[in-house]
Amino acid sequence: MSEINDKVTNEKKQIVLSGIQPTGTITLGNFLGAVSNWGKMQEEFDSIFFVADLHALTVKREPAEFRQACMSFFAQLLACGIDPAKSVLYFQSHVHEHTELQWILNCNTYVGEASRMTQFKDKSAKHADNINMGLMDYPVLMAADILLFRTSLVPVGIDQKQHLELTRDIAVRFNNRYGDTFVVPEPYIPATGAKICSLQDPTAKMSKSDPDANAWVSVIEDESSVMKKFKRAVTDSGNDIVARDDKPGITNLLTIYAAIEGKSVEQAEKEFAGVGYGTFKTAVGEAVAEKFRPIRENYHRYLDDKAYLAEVAREGARKASAMGSRTLAKVKRKVGLVSFDR
Ligand code: TYM
Repeated sequence: MSEINDKVTNEKKQIVLSGIQPTGTITLGNFLGAVSNWGKMQEEFDSIFFVADLHALTVKREPAEFRQACMSFFAQLLACGIDPAKSVLYFQSHVHEHTELQWILNCNTYVGEASRMTQFKDKSAKHADNINMGLMDYPVLMAADILLFRTSLVPVGIDQKQHLELTRDIAVRFNNRYGDTFVVPEPYIPATGAKICSLQDPTAKMSKSDPDANAWVSVIEDESSVMKKFKRAVTDSGNDIVARDDKPGITNLLTIYAAIEGKSVEQAEKEFAGVGYGTFKTAVGEAVAEKFRPIRENYHRYLDDKAYLAEVAREGARKASAMGSRTLAKVKRKVGLVSFDR
């Protein structure tokens, strides 16, 4: 199970990079907006994916639970098809170059830019008792994650678009000030699935930290629970199965179905024309449960194999560190830090 090769250290191909915070479990939103695309892109690009454990520390965590969640996320990513023979996969905190680069980028980012970020404002409102420095500095760490490698494409959901724009601004500013250093990355946002909404409030994003467990489904959830949540999903008035602004519930379910089945929303509308809401919700639930079955099964297998998880994580961190240290050395030189050949 542990064939790990060095393919990704060849920097000639375009680099794809993305991360996920280990909070809760990987939801349908994370899967359709990001992780399923990571799996597809690793076939074509040099791919780097990580568990963004340092990002998750911006909110208070119980240490033992957090450690478990980090391991669980690592196993969930493998179960979702991230293949260590094709991608570099690691824990962000195991590669110190991320935070080292962050410091230098901090000195090239304005407080005004960071404090304008929508997620900073939302999270500050949600955690008013813990508006820590990390919360505001979060997008600069994200910029460091991306710019540490010669990343061209960043597969994310629409909610990360603003952070990507800041990353691009920082990269361009640095390149103008110090000469060509960073590749300016592009977001890769899927046409269908970029924003999956809550099953209970289809005007809000599906979030893994939503305390209402009926609002989301997880990739490792058992089939009966997935079906129950879809049967309870909030729909709209009327009985047409069409995607329209005044029908956010039905639009969300059509989007989920289309993204899971690899179809367009129009095709999904045609498929369910004339069908009742109840039958439609069951069909969407079944499609999701079917997609998640192998993920759930593989997840338990991976989670039980701690030696394998450690081997993959160590090897991933080693490769990421080798690649990142080259960029970091270049950046240090550019800003005028003294270095001696080692
Ligand atoms: P996170 O952990 O909140 O989410 C992981 C990925 O899932 C996407 N996503 C969604 N897509 C569609 N519908 C939804 N309801 C939905 N909810 C979440 C997110 O857009 C994301 O792509 N800051 C990042 C993690 C990160 C990162 C990075 C990403 C850290 N460093 C560098 C890219 C590059 C985050 O909190 O994602």
